[in-house]
Amino acid sequence: MPRFPIASKTTETLSARVFSGLVQKAKAREAAGHQVYWLTVGDTYLEPPAVARAEAQRTADHPRLHNYAVPAGDPALLDAIGDKLSKQAGREIDRVLIQVQSGATAGLSVVVKALLDAGDEVLLPSPYWPLIRGIIAGRGATPVEVPLWDRIDDESFDLEAVLEAALTPRTAAIYVNSPHNPTSRVLSEHHLEAVERVAERHDLWVLCDEAYEELWFGDEAFAPVWNRPKLRDRAVATHTLSKGYGLAGARIGYTHGPAAAMEAVRGAQTFMTYCAARPMQLGAAAAIRDDGGWADEARRLYREAGKKAAAAIGVPEPVGGTFLFFDSTPFRNEGETTLDFLARCLDAGVLMTPGRACGTAYDAFVRVCFTSLPPAALDEALGRLQSVLHR
Ligand SMILES: Cc1ncc(COP(=O)(O)O)c(C=O)c1O
Repeated sequence: MPRFPIASKTTETLSARVFSGLVQKAKAREAAGHQVYWLTVGDTYLEPPAVARAEAQRTADHPRLHNYAVPAGDPALLDAIGDKLSKQAGREIDRVLIQVQSGATAGLSVVVKALLDAGDEVLLPSPYWPLIRGIIAGRGATPVEVPLWDRIDDESFDLEAVLEAALTPRTAAIYVNSPHNPTSRVLSEHHLEAVERVAERHDLWVLCDEAYEELWFGDEAFAPVWNRPKLRDRAVATHTLSKGYGLAGARIGYTHGPAAAMEAVRGAQTFMTYCAARPMQLGAAAAIRDDGGWADEARRLYREAGKKAAAAIGVPEPVGGTFLFFDSTPFRNEGETTLDFLARCLDAGVLMTPGRACGTAYDAFVRVCFTSLPPAALDEALGRLQSVLHR
């Protein structure tokens, strides 16, 4: 059937509409000479470790620096990742089970393409990182939202029963992102055991998203979900250097998992990006080997920023990640929608993301990034936000 000028039905669902009006308003405000504090995208104000920067990669040191890389990943990066994963796991992770990716967004798209078919369903605990819904839908699969993260402190919340109720014969996978965007919480042992039982009982893939693995604010890193003995044969984990190394613009990540999954991931990846940018792979390898204390310092700064932001809003401190997620209901005027409330915050100079982008059950919520601004600017932004929240 003739199609022009209509785009695909699959991509029609992939819009950022919930947010675009506010972004336009923020840009207009800036154009008119007013300051806007963007607490939206989970990026950082810190420059990355010196060894990983674009300017540290030189053709003189790396012949054919700008040629295609090996599709699985540059050997230097695969070795660095392999050593890192093996140390984390306390067991040898074979290099052939690792695929370097062009960041975790592309990486998860590759995983979803490799493991799912159109029409499959994926259990998507919500609220969620906004792009994951589109990544699943872009495959022609169906994201099945399972409200979870705002309920994890409720002792009567039965995760196993909730997941069971969301299952259908088409369910093929569950997505697990812990530490979590947008709540900056982690799943407890109790909840992870529920995930294990459901995944095992119904033969599900477990799609682990490790984006925030390095951003932990307690005494030590969280034990990786993908390394749990009961999940190892079904967990396909995707990591990124965007957060823990401040390299979001470098677009480097990686996926690893059991052999059957990785063979499919390799196949799918070749057709999507072929290989990740080689100069940035070499920088990533150097940072993984030795970041010169960068991650320790970033954790210290982000921990402080998270504490301040939580106190300003009046929510519990984050345990790991870059966002806070709060219910705007107590702060809204009578008759005001969340978007109206966000527009009022923007009038005070602070832009935040509507919770709706993180799930249909979160219309009343708001997501705030606490790592995007340097301390003094964050203080100013939080002061302005408080003037709206606690009038
Ligand atoms: C949970 C989660 N997964 C994946 C990503 C994507 O990371 P990348 O920059 O590597 O594409 C993000 C980025 O914000 C994220 O929050």
